[in-house]
Amino acid sequence: MENERLVEPQLTEEDYKEVSLRPKWLEEYIGQDKVVNKLKIFIEAAKNRSEPLDHTLLSGPPGLGKTTLAGIIANEMGVNLKVTSGPAIEKQGDLASILTNLSADDVLFIDEIHRINKSVEEILYPAMEDHALDIIIGKGPSARSIRLDLAPFTLIGATTRAGMLTSPLRDRFGVLLNLELYDVKSLVEIIIRSARILDIPIDKEGALEIAKRSRGTPRIANRLLKRVRDYAEVKEEGVITTKVAIKGLNMLEIDKYGLDNIDRKIILTMIEKFSGRPVGIDAISASIGEDRGTVEDVYEPYLMQIGFILRTPRGRVATKMAYDHFGIEYKEN
Ligand code: ADE
Repeated sequence: MENERLVEPQLTEEDYKEVSLRPKWLEEYIGQDKVVNKLKIFIEAAKNRSEPLDHTLLSGPPGLGKTTLAGIIANEMGVNLKVTSGPAIEKQGDLASILTNLSADDVLFIDEIHRINKSVEEILYPAMEDHALDIIIGKGPSARSIRLDLAPFTLIGATTRAGMLTSPLRDRFGVLLNLELYDVKSLVEIIIRSARILDIPIDKEGALEIAKRSRGTPRIANRLLKRVRDYAEVKEEGVITTKVAIKGLNMLEIDKYGLDNIDRKIILTMIEKFSGRPVGIDAISASIGEDRGTVEDVYEPYLMQIGFILRTPRGRVATKMAYDHFGIEYKEN
């Protein structure tokens, strides 16, 4: 079933409960160096001026730590964090009530902010720009608008793609940070840190095996770590070594690159249905029956990172590495 995929990057209930694995301070945060270095500067500057941090937009594929970063920012700034999501705010009144309940300098985190509806979004503009809430009182000719002052706050929006935001909304963020898939080295560090917190015996080579199959995503790495631990405890001596990790991951049917069925479908469609010719994202999405946005935001970045797909001016092509992985003979186009 889709929601039981071990390589699912979306947050599942088990991940959500695993709050203890989330770093709380920038010092503990592994990887995303560019983002972390910028944040350190912006946070220090804001604190020195005794101002809230400017509104911040975090973009990037799911599972890379956008919610975690929002928590870290609130901690570092010494303020409260309120968490909601675009689809959860249905009416203007819902957002008005969230905004009026914020204390001075609080961080409001809106996940999936690109899914906020247009009428709610309009409330956000004056709130972000002037800390003001415009509400309409009455109906028809006697209707009038009154403006309420809000406490100054920091909005942190998260989205899988900054390009999905309307430009008036995007333009109101002063800090734009894009998270990228993690390299294997950072994932090894994250797995070793998580193993220490969860008291799981693992060696560096065992962590490397898990890291290589985690699709550049800490959330997947932590999940695979826990399942390989189960395997190590029941079928082995409890220690995750290379050998145990490989056997556990094979039992979980996670292949050498952590590819799942949809990744495989994408590559095989490109190679077989389109005979290896350059192909557009719409054609790929339509022929595997997946939403274009999901293919673009979730699947394609990883397939590009591992060098299985190349973007060319004429469309996407599968590389020789991809052909080799699937044991298909490569023909130059
Ligand atoms: N756990 C999940 N993501 C992490 C990160 N970037 N650094 C440290 N621990 C993490």
